Amino acid sequence: MAKKRDSWGSRLGIIMAVAGSAIGLGNFLRFPAKAVSNGGGAFMIPYFISFLLLGIPLMWVEWTLGRYGGGFEHGTAPGIFHSLWQKNRFIKYFGVIGIFGPLVIFIYYIYIESWTLAYSFFSLTGRYSGLNDLAGMKSFLLGFQGLEKNQYFSGMQAAYLFFLIAFILNVIVIYYGIKGGIERLCKLAMPLLFIFGIILMFRVFTLGTPDSLKPDWNVLNGFGFLWNADFSALKSAKIWLEAAGQIFFTLSVGIGVILTYASYLSKGDDVVLSGLTAASTNGFAEVILGASIIIPAAFVFFGPFDMKSIANSGVFNLGFVTMPLVINKLPLSALMGFCWFFLLFLAGITSSVSLAQPAVAFLEDEFDISRKKAAAIFGIIAFVLCQPAIFFLGRGVVDELDFWGGTFFLVVFATIEVILFAWVFGMERAWDEIHKGADMRVPKIYKFIIKYITPLFLFFILGMWFKQEWLPIILMKNVSCADRPFVLSTRLGLLIIFSVLVILVKIAWQKRKVLKEKGR
Ligand code: ALA
Repeated sequence: MAKKRDSWGSRLGIIMAVAGSAIGLGNFLRFPAKAVSNGGGAFMIPYFISFLLLGIPLMWVEWTLGRYGGGFEHGTAPGIFHSLWQKNRFIKYFGVIGIFGPLVIFIYYIYIESWTLAYSFFSLTGRYSGLNDLAGMKSFLLGFQGLEKNQYFSGMQAAYLFFLIAFILNVIVIYYGIKGGIERLCKLAMPLLFIFGIILMFRVFTLGTPDSLKPDWNVLNGFGFLWNADFSALKSAKIWLEAAGQIFFTLSVGIGVILTYASYLSKGDDVVLSGLTAASTNGFAEVILGASIIIPAAFVFFGPFDMKSIANSGVFNLGFVTMPLVINKLPLSALMGFCWFFLLFLAGITSSVSLAQPAVAFLEDEFDISRKKAAAIFGIIAFVLCQPAIFFLGRGVVDELDFWGGTFFLVVFATIEVILFAWVFGMERAWDEIHKGADMRVPKIYKFIIKYITPLFLFFILGMWFKQEWLPIILMKNVSCADRPFVLSTRLGLLIIFSVLVILVKIAWQKRKVLKEKGR
């Protein structure tokens, strides 16, 4: 493999890129919806504990593993796991999850990202400006998604057009590579995203009490909903699972993308401070910006009861139904609407390009394919895979993809990598490896946390899942009879994607063996 691997241009660039990968629709849409539907203050304690015991340690583990694997010219989990445990012939196949997971998330994430682009455009052109009730705005969204034919949309042409635009933009960024594409995009998009976020946050702060007949529906109580801690909820397993799941999703840990991004670091590049900076930036974007926009805004206009029922009715309803309605009531609504949806688009695209990266890096590193060709192959395959999510959105396909790709396998993958790191590679070596080139020391307590607490926490989550949810999910108990064929086909499709990846790993390693033997 004579080809030189891509690399980052600057330290700021990589922090922006990792923060860009982390800060996404998860921060601004998924987090508020999860927090509201899990009781606000009740959610925040398990959330912060998961951040400290899962998020931060896994972030350091992945940055370190990625940099280590990059030293062996491997940018994805099969090669990285193999470098860690060379004697084990099977470990590389477990690494397949680190390509499968991000690919599966990508194929639905990009579609939702394209809605944000469409709504940015609709905001500027005033397409939804006349709507002022929940029913109207919901019907607008359903019409746009092609789930209902109504006076707003007669088909899904607009949705498909914006999907194509978002998809092409993503492929262009990936085509230009790590430094020329992803780093350049994130250096531009991240500051813009923060500017838009801060403008919206201040706008929400000044909402006061818009309805004088309902003095309790004010901004302060909106914040209180999220920040008044509720210790009784610590007994609920479901809240722990949801909080841990959100930490994984939002930080992009357990997915495989940080491994790939970190594989483009050099041996002496710091991972401790950079990892912490990226995680903290994401935390700021989530609990300060993400939580200070939708939740208080929805609270003052709809009150706690309706806000909860909107959040429970779907992850995207707060963002695509409630927010436009709130914005329609404000001065400069076209501009504010654009700020909100374009912020979501920037958050989305800086994450989706990172989700594409493991598959592209796998083709480049393990098959010696040029970046441009790898981007083109990825583009064609991902385009085909996106279609079911678009056309069968109302049939449970996206939920199914999100469950396996965006929830279940994240926990499995994180468990494998932390065990490999702390127990197979060995905690002493791992600790030295983390600190190579480090600008600060990791607090010693994390040696204990990474070795014992994080794996135990992960086993606990998996155990709870198997105990409470395994059977109903496998038997599709919560899926309507009409949707079952679609959900089953999605599962079959996922199995095929996974098997193809396993076969590709096998072929790549056979090729490597032949080359090695020829070299002798
Ligand atoms: N971490 C990304 C997000 O929060 C995937 O959306």
